[in-house]
Amino acid sequence: MNESTTLIGIESSCDECSASVVTLRPGSHRVEVRSVATFSQIQIHAPYGGVVPELASRNHLETINAMIEQALAEAGVAARDLDAIAVTQRPGLVGALLVGVTAAKAMAMALEKPLVPVHHLEGHLSSLFLDRDEPALEHLPLLAAVISGGHTNLYVLKDSPSNWPADVLSRSLVGRSRDDAAGEAFDKTAKLMGFPYPGGVWIDRTAALGGRPDTYDFPRALPQKDVLDFSFSGLKTAVALEIKKLNPDELERAKPDLCASVQEAIVDALIRKIRLAYREFGCRSLAIVGGVAANSRLRARLEEETRRLGLAVAPSFPAREYCTDNAAMIAGAGAFRYRQGKFLTGRDRLSLAAQASAAD
Ligand code: KG4
Ligand code: ZN
Repeated sequence: MNESTTLIGIESSCDECSASVVTLRPGSHRVEVRSVATFSQIQIHAPYGGVVPELASRNHLETINAMIEQALAEAGVAARDLDAIAVTQRPGLVGALLVGVTAAKAMAMALEKPLVPVHHLEGHLSSLFLDRDEPALEHLPLLAAVISGGHTNLYVLKDSPSNWPADVLSRSLVGRSRDDAAGEAFDKTAKLMGFPYPGGVWIDRTAALGGRPDTYDFPRALPQKDVLDFSFSGLKTAVALEIKKLNPDELERAKPDLCASVQEAIVDALIRKIRLAYREFGCRSLAIVGGVAANSRLRARLEEETRRLGLAVAPSFPAREYCTDNAAMIAGAGAFRYRQGKFLTGRDRLSLAAQASAAD
């Protein structure tokens, strides 16, 4: 296509209700984020220690129109001037997804615009291209790790996003978690220590208060060199056993060391498999996306890997604001798909269904 593409993206798969307007210029892979309006439901779910699906759906319903209007207003773009509407179709909480999908369908029909269904994980991968030039595109294959509250997936990407095939996710997947996701491991162990939901950022911050990562020797599962999968469920049990030994005062004092040790166990497991996959598939660059990409210890440890793995360029991370769920990454992924003609028009737009699962 020879013209710039301007899309709105809508994200409602979990506990962030978000809309964003982006522009992609011809021949470029840099997605210009013109606005992002996000309502985070964290405060609503925090008292329950996790996301309550019914509350999430209801809140998305109350919030989504305001997010769409705010995103358009901040970008200074009229709805009729959009080229397409992109929306997270899967995976996620189905009642939450339905709100975004229905809003996007209604917009696409009313405005007579194409509708671009987006896979949430393709969105996370596309967060690398938001407001930045991704140097890894010059050094493919790229090993990209999606590390979030719901997923811990390793992908080997051989092409730029404009050429990603429709089944890029299933085709490029080389490793994944067999049980809890890394973010889930952060959140569950944080909950055991009494931190609010979501606990990942609390572990990060508390460990940084002088916590020693070698105080507790928590398990690193699946050490085999021929396994690229992760397993984090044993960690929670090990942490629970340690906490049981402490009275409330001791627990309070032990928190920095506990957090640093938990964080080290998760980061160690991640780095070990990233290293193995990188070598096995002859990768030349490395990127980390998803909520856990915001973790400061993971970032620091990966910087150290640059020389060890012989990376052509330093590991890539999206800007921190685009690590956790947001609609800009959905709009970005939608723009790359739109560029390839992968969108719905006519009555096909009405048949788009929200899907809870990551794949059929
Ligand atoms: O990508 P995301 O917003 O949602 C999913 O798609 O799952 O990721 C949220 C996850 C949560 O588990 C949260 O605790 C974790 O990312 N997270 C962190 C940090 N910031 C967010 N984990 C560790 N350290 C952080 N600084
Ligand atoms: Zn996510």
